[in-house]
Amino acid sequence: MTRSDLLARGCAAALVLAAAVLALPAQAQSMPQAPSTATAASPRLYDELGGQPGVARLGSELVRRAIADPRLAPYFKDAKADRLAAQLSDQICQLAGGPCTYKGADMKAAHADMEIDRRAFNALVEVLQDTLDAQAVPFAAQRRLLALLAPMHRDVVTVR
Ligand code: HEM
Repeated sequence: MTRSDLLARGCAAALVLAAAVLALPAQAQSMPQAPSTATAASPRLYDELGGQPGVARLGSELVRRAIADPRLAPYFKDAKADRLAAQLSDQICQLAGGPCTYKGADMKAAHADMEIDRRAFNALVEVLQDTLDAQAVPFAAQRRLLALLAPMHRDVVTVR
């Protein structure tokens, strides 16, 4: 992939994110549900993420990379990495239409008092995209996952 391909791809992802943020109503922000039916033309996102092993790897790798990222490390200094990875994996699994139930805190409560700004939120989205790339998740599936997560910025970002 050339540098301009990469740039175009990054811009496309940012646009999808912005569109998702603008298009979704406020009440859809906490825990949007993926459609329960999938057609041949649109495979279940959960399967595209690699099923249970895929979402488990996604959770742990995302946490590992976030902790290692200098932009995010301060936020995660006291995080319980294993527990957080499991919660993230369940949350992504459920959002993607998989057979899991996320039982953690809602996004507002989980991130209250962390003083997360938009820059930190975007950094985490970038780290997530890198993680998805490393797991060879197809770009269309990456966009679908980002569109499900993007509206959560309303609950996660508290410094505006
Ligand atoms: C769409 C974006 C995000 C999602 C889906 C998400 C998801 C989650 C989930 C599921 C938890 C666990 C809640 C629980 O244990 O009950 C959590 C906790 C946490 N999140 Fe996020 N998060 C997002 C954005 C962010 C951002 C941008 C930051 C920091 C820059 C962040 C930092 C943390 C921290 C530090 C914890 C607590 C970890 C611990 O105490 O072990 N999150 N998040």
